[in-house]
Amino acid sequence: MTDDLFSPALAELAENGLLRRATAFDGGDGRTVTLDGKRYLLFCSNDYLRLSHDPRIIEAVKEGLDRYGFGSGGSRLISGTRAPHAQLEKAIAEFLRAEAALLFSSGYSANTGCIPALAGKGDAILADKLNHASLVDGCLLSKADFHRYPHRNMAALEKLLQKTAGAKTRWIVTDGLFSMDGDLAPLDALCGLAKKHHARVYVDDAHAFGVLGANGRGTAELFGVGESVDITVGTLGKAAGGMGAFAAGKKSAVDFLLNKARSFIFSTAMPPADAAGNLKAVEILADFHEGRKRFLEGIENFHTRLKVQNLETSSKTYIIPLVIGEAGATVSTAKLFWDGGVFLQAVRPPAVPEGTSRLRLTLSLAQTDEDRETLLAVMKKALPAGAEEENGPSKRKR
Ligand SMILES: Cc1ncc(COP(=O)(O)O)c(C=O)c1O
Repeated sequence: MTDDLFSPALAELAENGLLRRATAFDGGDGRTVTLDGKRYLLFCSNDYLRLSHDPRIIEAVKEGLDRYGFGSGGSRLISGTRAPHAQLEKAIAEFLRAEAALLFSSGYSANTGCIPALAGKGDAILADKLNHASLVDGCLLSKADFHRYPHRNMAALEKLLQKTAGAKTRWIVTDGLFSMDGDLAPLDALCGLAKKHHARVYVDDAHAFGVLGANGRGTAELFGVGESVDITVGTLGKAAGGMGAFAAGKKSAVDFLLNKARSFIFSTAMPPADAAGNLKAVEILADFHEGRKRFLEGIENFHTRLKVQNLETSSKTYIIPLVIGEAGATVSTAKLFWDGGVFLQAVRPPAVPEGTSRLRLTLSLAQTDEDRETLLAVMKKALPAGAEEENGPSKRKR
């Protein structure tokens, strides 16, 4: 092939501030990253509880490598299942107080496998407009009718429930804690509507698993609606500090997914050593009350500090969107943070809707009070009062 098919498309992305690159850091410890010899404070990781560097988990992975080797050598239903996979599924189910759980290689593959398995021809999916891309893709892969309601708008959801009354099964599909906005699905109201209209509930709790709720079981625990959620998906790549994901629910639902979710059936199983590391992570999460309390108190303090500095956003959680608006301007603002020694990323379409590009700031247990003071000072500089008026609080409080 002599003509260049891709360069014009890449040039167009660059022109619109939408070109992406994967930054390869020289090192990192969960709190900082090093790039070209310069150390940055890390403020965009999903490793909320810093379990990625927990020595107990690292040891479990090493033991797993010695015992089982590197790869699983096959898909779960052929030859890839080892003891740690089964133990991990049992531990996740116990932690969540669910009947059963099924592992996937990632949250992306969980959603793109589970949703098309659960909802097919004659069914309807009702999904929040700001759901994560993996949920959207799962819905698009499904043969069910796909409807989207405005973000967290329960009146609009009820209208859709009335409109789709003729569908065989209705699935309400939502993030628990929204990945790019840091706000929560109103699960109490949502589950109430599901009950009233005989719909099923699918919650992707990727960002809340291990953190929110009295025992870290996630948003369903936070809202006290565990019994009303049919399928909970979570990833092990965020607060659990590793990689992989699960779907949990009634045993019959999990057995059904094992037989029907194509991303489970037709994909190599997670390496057994990773399963052993994830198992240790879930055991740690089940007993992480003190750390979780410390983390959540730190978040509350940080939001108070943001308010005092007139930098408040709509978020009350550890995911804090600083909405700038235009993609190019967001990239330029990210660079100001880097200059100040703080690493975070510009999040642009298609990860977020057009015109709402943002810096996605995350808090983690790795950060010290001092780190967060440094961040606040950089925010003050990089988001000057003028820019705030033009692009700031009103948009940030979207
Ligand atoms: C809500 C949500 N679901 C699923 C995923 C994908 O999970 P994973 O990174 O394990 O593929 C993400 C990742 O950012 C997410 O935010």
